[in-house]
Amino acid sequence: MAVRSVPSLASVASPKDGKLFAESAARNLAPLCDLLQQVAPPLGHRALELASGTGQHVIGYASRLPDFSWQPSEADPARLDSINAYIAATDLTNIRPAMPLDATATGWGAAQHPQDLIVLSNLLHLISSAEAQCLIQEAAVALAPQGRLVIYGPFSRGGELTSPGDRSFHSALTAHDPETGYKDDFDVLDWGEAAGLRTTQVVEMPANNLALVFCKEGSQPDG
Ligand SMILES: C[S@@+](CC[C@H](N)C(=O)[O-])C[C@H]1O[C@@H](n2cnc3c(N)ncnc32)[C@H](O)[C@@H]1O
Repeated sequence: MAVRSVPSLASVASPKDGKLFAESAARNLAPLCDLLQQVAPPLGHRALELASGTGQHVIGYASRLPDFSWQPSEADPARLDSINAYIAATDLTNIRPAMPLDATATGWGAAQHPQDLIVLSNLLHLISSAEAQCLIQEAAVALAPQGRLVIYGPFSRGGELTSPGDRSFHSALTAHDPETGYKDDFDVLDWGEAAGLRTTQVVEMPANNLALVFCKEGSQPDG
């Protein structure tokens, strides 16, 4: 399934100047850029963003991590148009045109290998557990040795929803589609390890979100 139906509060983006704008993406961009600057591999070149949304994030990432060539991707055609409108409105030369990609499909990992950095924000709670595991397996295939996978969003913690806002959001998601809803931090760490990745960091982020950082083992080729 490419893009599941989600409650309207789960993916809010409004038209603005020929692009889509999400208040939440504007709010969490700076903390995400700070995080990526800390965890991105020092010798990395290729970065892939999954489920890029409006395109606000990838513009910020490309500006703050200029040594990477950024490839945004999305499954929703309207959002692909918005990402490309953001790219057209910037002078940055290290962003490729947005690529259609269903991050929950099988097989994209081999086609996108080798990536030094893969970033995913705010998708795992909108898909099923089976789709989330498939996404992580494909990301593991797509990563180069020593590449990093960063997964950001809301999670339950050791089986607990830890704030009233998280409990209410998770309930709204599961009422709309019982296969979706918050994933547990320990489950996602297990899925990463099962896909051959090593957990390097679990970072507390604003608004009770988490960033899970994984590394693919192996040596980088010389040169
Ligand atoms: C809540 S938004 C998050 C967007 C952006 N990453 C952010 O944090 O602002 C979820 C995004 O995931 C996209 N999406 C949903 N299912 C997807 C899939 N299977 N593959 C790729 N993108 C998907 C939606 O179109 C939407 O843009």
